[in-house]
Amino acid sequence: MPVLMQINELTKHFGGLKAVSSLDFELHQGELLGLIGPNGAGKTTVFNLITGLLKPNAGRILFREKNIAGWAPHRISASGIARTFQNIRLMSGMTVRENIRPAFHQKIKYSLLSSIMKTPSFIHTEIEMDRRINDVLSMLQVSEFADQYVEDLPYGIQRRIEIARALCLEPMVLLLDEPTAGLNQKEAEQIVEVINHLLHEKSISVVVIEHNMRVIMSICSRIVVINQGQVIATGMPEEIQKNKEVIRVYLGEKRST
Ligand SMILES: Nc1ncnc2c1ncn2[C@@H]1O[C@H](COP(=O)(O)OP(=O)(O)OP(=O)(O)O)[C@@H](O)[C@H]1O
Ligand SMILES: [Mg+2]
Repeated sequence: MPVLMQINELTKHFGGLKAVSSLDFELHQGELLGLIGPNGAGKTTVFNLITGLLKPNAGRILFREKNIAGWAPHRISASGIARTFQNIRLMSGMTVRENIRPAFHQKIKYSLLSSIMKTPSFIHTEIEMDRRINDVLSMLQVSEFADQYVEDLPYGIQRRIEIARALCLEPMVLLLDEPTAGLNQKEAEQIVEVINHLLHEKSISVVVIEHNMRVIMSICSRIVVINQGQVIATGMPEEIQKNKEVIRVYLGEKRST
């Protein structure tokens, strides 16, 4: 499969801390890549760099032959990269549909005049938008919650709604930061089903950060392991499970916690 995203020498310092240090890895088209490593390894920072929430000190992020490193977040999401957050970022006091709509508005740009005048093209687009929101909610099997306030919903449903919101951007690449964190086994399995659907039916390439090794080992075609901001291993799940450096890092983490 061709390379969709290539990360070279990516580096981010916070003061004296090298959170990400000369990191290299690539994402192939149609791939489900796992990004794992102990707490504080730099995983979320990598997502923040890819999505433009942080600017790198050095390095390149080549996506569809453009270096997107340092671009503004809205430009990166418009180019085809969407994400979810480790800590759910839904707006309380708003329904599921209201939480998802802004993601669509980000994609569809109206002129101010057409939205004030409610022109036929504006109304048509709004109807089309609702139809697409319904499609995405139905794909994630959360249609029944569309008009409920997000804070009233179980955590497992909120996680799926976060994914729905990211999908409204119709991304080529989806970055999932610990999508099964805080979920029970059944809810985690539902998320796995969703991810598999995205890969196989929607041809979206996915990078997933996870601490749940059962999930990672069962769904990823390839895994990148990072520790202290650096890649320590890359390979297929069975290779990673046997890798001595990976075992050492994970055992070290267990002893210190
Ligand atoms: N905005 C920031 N300012 C300062 N330090 C930060 C910032 N973001 C992350 N760090 C530090 O960078 C390091 C990497 O953090 P990061 O959140 O990327 O780790 P992680 O691998 O996602 O960990 P976890 O598995 O716990 O989510 C940590 O030491 C963290 O404290
Ligand atoms: Mg993290």
